[in-house]
Amino acid sequence: MAKSLITLTDISSDELLEIFNRIKKLKVKIKKRESIKILENKVVGLLFEKPSTRTRTSFEAAALRLGANTIYMPSSEMQLKRGEPIKDTARILGDYLDCLIARVYEHDDVVELAKYSSICVINGLSDLSHPTQVICDLFTVLEVKGKLKGLTMAYIGDGDNMCHSLMVGCAMVGMNINCACPKGYGPKPEIINEARKIGEKTGAKINVVDDPKAAARGANVFYTDVWVSMGDEASAQQRMKDFADYQINADLVKLGSKDASVMHCLPAHRGLEITDDVIEGPQSIVWQEGANKMYGAAGILDFLLGGK
Ligand code: CP
Ligand code: NVA
Repeated sequence: MAKSLITLTDISSDELLEIFNRIKKLKVKIKKRESIKILENKVVGLLFEKPSTRTRTSFEAAALRLGANTIYMPSSEMQLKRGEPIKDTARILGDYLDCLIARVYEHDDVVELAKYSSICVINGLSDLSHPTQVICDLFTVLEVKGKLKGLTMAYIGDGDNMCHSLMVGCAMVGMNINCACPKGYGPKPEIINEARKIGEKTGAKINVVDDPKAAARGANVFYTDVWVSMGDEASAQQRMKDFADYQINADLVKLGSKDASVMHCLPAHRGLEITDDVIEGPQSIVWQEGANKMYGAAGILDFLLGGK
């Protein structure tokens, strides 16, 4: 059974550092457009139930740059749409492919894809987590700050898939995280506990509050995500009201450290979760973060499929 990446806890802290090293090396080579054939003869499938600009393209581009072939499979064009069970799909795709990147609504579906196929399955976002995004994000922080351990991230917004993976990822690298989420929109208690347990070993403190200012004070990195995730559209109107005070703007960023950086996984909604002046401003590392999704995807594929 090949190693899969369904949540960040599928890898150890040491393996996460190894992935960062692979990303760093591959970034240099890819930027020089060197020929890298470490995934030659591999076939990577991308099964997407939801839209994607970055995750789909970055993984597909990275796989192609590493010499693999790719097949994009929107679920709307598969028998899944007509009710074929996930486990039957998984068994068949497992015979055809070497790796499957899957973006799903229900986290259990990506777990089932991995369970019923013998190949490497990578979670390209589920309602519970977005592990590959956080690997690329932490790599970006490492590039910008030169370290991760001991820094503090302020996450402002929904206690969603991004918040969950950031809590676990920060805990794994010894980075503190203060999450400020409106009442009723906090992260799942089991993920908070999981992150705190990891933090006990690495020294990371995981705080969940409902006051954005309390989360922001002294932060080295600010992070936010959409107020309405894919799948949450039915509650969009209510969310606009409930999240109105959970915006990363210039006043909030002033509460952080002087050289604080601002991140967003994208897509961003200017004037809602982040203001235009902040995302376009000098403290924003959002575009470096977005670019690193492809180098990150390359490092992840190399780690999972490329061998030593
Ligand atoms: N950040 C991210 O996952 O973007 P996409 O939805 O465009 O893949
Ligand atoms: N929380 C967002 C992340 C998008 C990359 C969503 O699930 O839609």
